[in-house]
Amino acid sequence: MSRTPFIAGNWKMHLDRAGIATFCEALAAPDYGAEGVRVGVFPPFVYLAQVVEALAGTGIVVGAQNCHPADEGAFTGEVAARMVADVGASHVIVGHSERRHVFGETDADVKARLDAALARGLDVILCVGETIHERQAGRTEEVVFRQLDAGLAGLDGETVATRVTVAYEPVWAIGTGLTATPAQAQDVHAAVRARVAGTCGDDVAARLIIQYGGSVKPDNVSELIGQADVDGALVGGASLQPTSFQALARLGTGVNA
Ligand code: 13P
Repeated sequence: MSRTPFIAGNWKMHLDRAGIATFCEALAAPDYGAEGVRVGVFPPFVYLAQVVEALAGTGIVVGAQNCHPADEGAFTGEVAARMVADVGASHVIVGHSERRHVFGETDADVKARLDAALARGLDVILCVGETIHERQAGRTEEVVFRQLDAGLAGLDGETVATRVTVAYEPVWAIGTGLTATPAQAQDVHAAVRARVAGTCGDDVAARLIIQYGGSVKPDNVSELIGQADVDGALVGGASLQPTSFQALARLGTGVNA
């Protein structure tokens, strides 16, 4: 089963309007040869419309980093999935570990966001991953499966195969410079795929895109996505410069395809 790799930049709370304009100009120039790979960027909410406009027609995915499940209401500071779709974004990240661990989002919160995003026509990247304590206690699969099962509950297989990307992001590898080894990543990715095969069937599992995230850089991305079940990367720090991000996109070309 061929899967097109998906390299996504999660810009978190970085960059500014001018920097993003320059970044988008670089991305929109058709000279980085990123064929056979899907590329996406996830700017802060306030820049979403700007990026959608700047990258229109490029085929580059633009998405939000989170969304609120309600369509509207008295939720000061929140942004609805409906609004993310309304400005023309196509994707949203749900369940990022910073949302779970810094802002206290539970599996139920993540599920509500995921369902609202799908209902509003947005595709999702569902992040899962264990803390260092959970890994050291031998609980990696238990934690990842709990987050995965909660996120995918009730979805039909076709939706999982075509509109959900899973991002395995071990919390201990995010922003720390500590990358999971390719073998560590492959072990969890294979377990995630087997879990999805168990609930949604082999065909859905074979089509599911599973990204790795956590200190991915141009010099380690090839080895990571060279693993059989690693279908791309969700990148923080190394996605913040056009040259580095474009290198990642180029290196993602055609792997596993
Ligand atoms: P870093 O690439 O900075 O480790 O961040 C990973 C991440 O959290 C992407 O969502």
